[in-house]
Amino acid sequence: MTVAPSLLSADFLNLSKDVAMLNANADIAHLDIMDGVFVPNLSFGFSVVDALKGKFDIPVDAHLMVVHPERWFERFANAGVKMLSFHWEESRGRTSEFIDRLHSLGLKAGIAINPDIPVSRLYPYLGKADYFLIMSVFAGFGGQSFIPGSLDRVSALKRKIEAGGFRAAIEVDGGVNLSNAADLARAGADILVAGSAVFNAGDPASVIRKLQAV
Ligand code: DX5
Ligand code: ZN
Repeated sequence: MTVAPSLLSADFLNLSKDVAMLNANADIAHLDIMDGVFVPNLSFGFSVVDALKGKFDIPVDAHLMVVHPERWFERFANAGVKMLSFHWEESRGRTSEFIDRLHSLGLKAGIAINPDIPVSRLYPYLGKADYFLIMSVFAGFGGQSFIPGSLDRVSALKRKIEAGGFRAAIEVDGGVNLSNAADLARAGADILVAGSAVFNAGDPASVIRKLQAV
């Protein structure tokens, strides 16, 4: 399993320590960007994102939980991000255009959806988007409980990807931990995002290794 710890739960007074731990153990670094409008919370902006430029040896994945995500695509590309997902809910009929813009910036393009959006909304972008981010909690906060119905959403999307012979990864984000990771792997997840399960653990590196082993 590919594991993408979310920096949202990292120690912001000692970020270099967590960056080094992720470089040594994780597959991808996940950056949660929240604007207080699309989600009822603020996270961090370019003062942090730009400071992290060049510090990761692993790919950086930005998850934009913001209105008008397209305003920031170029800034994230300049900050060295390799994967970027925007929420379908905020793409306002411009999903294909956003994917093309991300590709022209050299980024992998992901489409994220909250738990109340049918996965079928993603089907028109099979063969176009590089990955799909299935939220298994409502976007906005780390440390929420995994919504069990997310497993069926992941399997439905996986079946559709396989039936059509498409190449697209499924990333699952929210409440992921050592108790549900194996079920998510069986359902068809390719990338697991985990914030609190990794950073609130006594030994974050060992949690990452166990998630990778599922
Ligand atoms: C939630 C974020 C997640 C969050 C995951 O809106 O998109 O990436 O950091 O945190 P946990 O793993 O604690 O649910
Ligand atoms: Zn996220």
